[in-house]
Amino acid sequence: MALIALLAGDGIGPEVTAAACTVLGALALDLRFEEAPVGGAAYRVAGHPLPPETLALAERADAVLFGAVGDPAFDALERTMRPEQAILGLRKELGLFANLRPARMFAGLEDASALRPEIAGRIDLMIVRELTGDVYFGDKGRGLTRTGLREGHDLMRYDEVEVARIARTGFEIARTRSRRLTSVDKANVLETSQLWREVVNEVARDFRDVTLSHMYCDNAAMQLVRDPGQFDVIVTGNLFGDILSDQASMCVGSIGLLPSASLDSEGKGLFEPIHGSAPDIAGQGKANPCAAILSAAMMLRTSLRMPEPAGRIEAAVAAAIAGGARTADLGGTLSTGAMTDAVLAALG
Ligand code: NAD
Ligand code: IPM
Ligand code: MN
Repeated sequence: MALIALLAGDGIGPEVTAAACTVLGALALDLRFEEAPVGGAAYRVAGHPLPPETLALAERADAVLFGAVGDPAFDALERTMRPEQAILGLRKELGLFANLRPARMFAGLEDASALRPEIAGRIDLMIVRELTGDVYFGDKGRGLTRTGLREGHDLMRYDEVEVARIARTGFEIARTRSRRLTSVDKANVLETSQLWREVVNEVARDFRDVTLSHMYCDNAAMQLVRDPGQFDVIVTGNLFGDILSDQASMCVGSIGLLPSASLDSEGKGLFEPIHGSAPDIAGQGKANPCAAILSAAMMLRTSLRMPEPAGRIEAAVAAAIAGGARTADLGGTLSTGAMTDAVLAALG
């Protein structure tokens, strides 16, 4: 029986993970859940956003189902104690270097996209975001300049091994799709990006069946709204991938739709919606649970090797949406619970 670490976290995290668990429960799979506090919720009870017991559970489990962390009550804490450190710590400690963020247009949802329907209609892309390097994990600090001005820094850095392994992931995923890979960087300005491009080109020699192109991040942001259908797989660094995936979510209708898988080199992983704790709607039953439900499906397919129930969940979400089920973020009136019920009904 597979052990799932359930880390619900803050804000809408518990609301959407509960929905995902309800859907998993309806499939009567051989799963066992163990819960642990994380983020602001953990800081409240244990004085730390990622208590050792929570990390130990995540390490012991076959997969982690994660909600979201972040709480305005803790925004003033020093950086290392903020709720967000919990997800960064989990990614680093578990070696989850590959973050897969698929974005596709659901039939019938073209009206919810921020783009015109004829532009949005073609979107089916996968952002492969490097997750344990970049400015997120480079040297950080505060100090004073020689003239006494306060300064802060976050070092952007990658080594060639880090770039090569995420590039490989990008190429391998491209191989299972349309064999087109776009590497996004800022090689016209950044040294890290020049190394990135160099290494991606080297890895490309092992994947001659995949068509590789390079694009600067600023152009990629523009192309994503001009003609998102041109993209299949995008591979990029931690910071650019963070930003581009939020942007991609609005191209397909809402950030409440995008799931993600964060994987280590063996395919073990943490699964979470790409959105955060959404303090503005937390506790109101307004959150769209689809991103969390689809994350659970990614968990079944990727870490637990249960493609059949994964496919059933994905089909049920698509069917519920095609049938008109819409939370407020999609222009509808359904609560989190009612949207979950619509998915359950489609599941049959
Ligand atoms: P957010 O993703 O939480 O919310 C951005 C906007 O999208 C808000 O208006 C919110 O209401 C809406 N939204 C998000 N998820 C939704 C859903 N499922 N259904 C409907 N609407 C949804 O980003 P933010 O407001 O910038 O950040 C809030 C907190 O979350 C911060 O503390 C941030 O650090 C944290 N955060 C955590 C994660 C994570 O845990 N992986 C990811 C992103 C942000
Ligand atoms: C995400 C979030 C996180 C990130 C934050 C909360 C650390 O925005 O998962 O997309 O920047 O990676
Ligand atoms: Mn983000």
